[in-house]
Amino acid sequence: MTTKSNYTSTDIQAIFNRIAPVYDRLNNDLSLGIHWIWKQMAVSWSGAKSGDTCLDICCGSGDITQLMAKQVGTTGTVIGADFAPAQLENAAAKIANIYPPLDRINWVEADALNLPFADNYFDAATMGYGLRNVTDIPLCLAELHRVLKADAKVAILDFHRPGSRLVRRFQQWYLDSIVVPKATQLGMTNEYAYLNPSLDRFPTGAEQVKLGLTAGFSRATHYPIASGMMGILVLTK
Ligand SMILES: C[S@@+](CC[C@H](N)C(=O)[O-])C[C@H]1O[C@@H](n2cnc3c(N)ncnc32)[C@H](O)[C@@H]1O
Repeated sequence: MTTKSNYTSTDIQAIFNRIAPVYDRLNNDLSLGIHWIWKQMAVSWSGAKSGDTCLDICCGSGDITQLMAKQVGTTGTVIGADFAPAQLENAAAKIANIYPPLDRINWVEADALNLPFADNYFDAATMGYGLRNVTDIPLCLAELHRVLKADAKVAILDFHRPGSRLVRRFQQWYLDSIVVPKATQLGMTNEYAYLNPSLDRFPTGAEQVKLGLTAGFSRATHYPIASGMMGILVLTK
């Protein structure tokens, strides 16, 4: 199992700043919009409720942050945090004209490996497609554990290499033959070629559970979704 990346944080930050202009379009086209269902599942499984103070870390263009803001209602607060400023600019622009306004969202430029938040601060947290991208997974989980209140949960959505060889071959074909060519059309070949190696290095669901428990969480469950091509890791402090 590899929990440290060959890429530096600066490499990852640069990739996500560069893909910001096409990120939403690719997500919607490549998943036929289904990513919204998986993102809503992560919000629901984080246990966030009305009036809560929540964190969406590695928020990117803020889809999950928006869903979380709807979940906590007008009395709650959500922080969408990411270290790529171009992604945060998109996220803020996307909610500017939403009605009713989502004014309980605060966008914060922050590193998931060194969160600028107090201990025991959040009632719930989410992370969508972020854990695979951080350069030090154990440190990221330790930071999430630190900022969550006792008994609070984080729901972590990401790609996953399926156990079934057939489904794994389908996933590989999909990434090589659909995702990378589509990204190439938009001038982002190198940026999306990064997806496959990041998935090869990413711990399996069982390994993620062990890492969660090692980080200090009292309960850890990995739920495979989309025939195991994705998964949601739910950790309880
Ligand atoms: C694949 S995008 C996911 C965006 C969004 N959560 C979603 O589900 O659409 C991954 C995001 O993680 C961010 N990221 C990666 N490493 C990070 C770190 N160490 N600290 C903060 N953000 C990070 C990137 O800038 C990028 O916006």
